[in-house]
Amino acid sequence: MKDKIRKAATALRESKNAVIFTGAGISVESGIPSFRGTGGLWSKYDPRYLELHYFYQHPEESWKVLKEIFYDFMAGAEPNPAHYAIALLEKKGFVKFVITQNIDNLHQLAGSKTVYEFHGSIRNLICTNCWQRFESQSVKLDPLPPRCPQCGGLLKPDLVFFSEMIPETVSRRSFEAAEKADVMVLVGTTGEVMPASLIPHTAKDRNNALIIEINPEESLYTTPLTDIFLQGRAGEILPELAGETISDNSEKE
Ligand code: APR
Repeated sequence: MKDKIRKAATALRESKNAVIFTGAGISVESGIPSFRGTGGLWSKYDPRYLELHYFYQHPEESWKVLKEIFYDFMAGAEPNPAHYAIALLEKKGFVKFVITQNIDNLHQLAGSKTVYEFHGSIRNLICTNCWQRFESQSVKLDPLPPRCPQCGGLLKPDLVFFSEMIPETVSRRSFEAAEKADVMVLVGTTGEVMPASLIPHTAKDRNNALIIEINPEESLYTTPLTDIFLQGRAGEILPELAGETISDNSEKE
């Protein structure tokens, strides 16, 4: 593994446009279960509660589950060493962007500056009538469903629900970053959900990016796409990779 970490670190040091692409696995060591795999959220909760049409037809029932999954325990989660390692690599100039499928805001809390949240974030709620956004903390989630303080409309978490379009700006910026990437580090994602899962393929197809993957298990990327597979937990591997990449006093010019 040491050799592979060294090879990955060399690639990051020599890169001009390194991008990090993260999924739920990077937040597992912050206490947030992933969606799939043993103990995953979709084995406990029916994914229909994150389906847009079901939400509109059953707002109260959906909100009860969404509050439990995304607000009751996710809101208290803290970044783990993997998030901090990525923020340090960005600060030292070795990483340009983070594209995350996660909605937990942990990259920003760890200090990452340029984070494209492909599936939105739990930070805000949005009114489905007047489209006004509100900080989640400023809205009482009791009684449910929460109503818009401006117009009384139904409030919805500002996340991308299943069968909902990805916001145009974040989609364009993410794919543009992928097209230009010369190195892409995939952290903690099965690669099962479109269109997010196309991002690493875009990096490889458009720019023949070197793909480094960090995951305890193989994913849909490992065989067809991954060049360097660092098998293990993000909280262990990323700090080691960052340490190897950043020697003392070295910053990208
Ligand atoms: N470190 C790194 N990876 C880990 C760790 C860990 N400590 N623990 C688990 N993993 C890996 C799992 O092996 C799995 O490959 O994280 C991945 C989690 O996969 P998913 O739960 O499918 O998460 P993700 O790929 O982000 O899902 C994509 O699906 O439900 C939607 O919108 C949701 O953004 C999510 C999307």
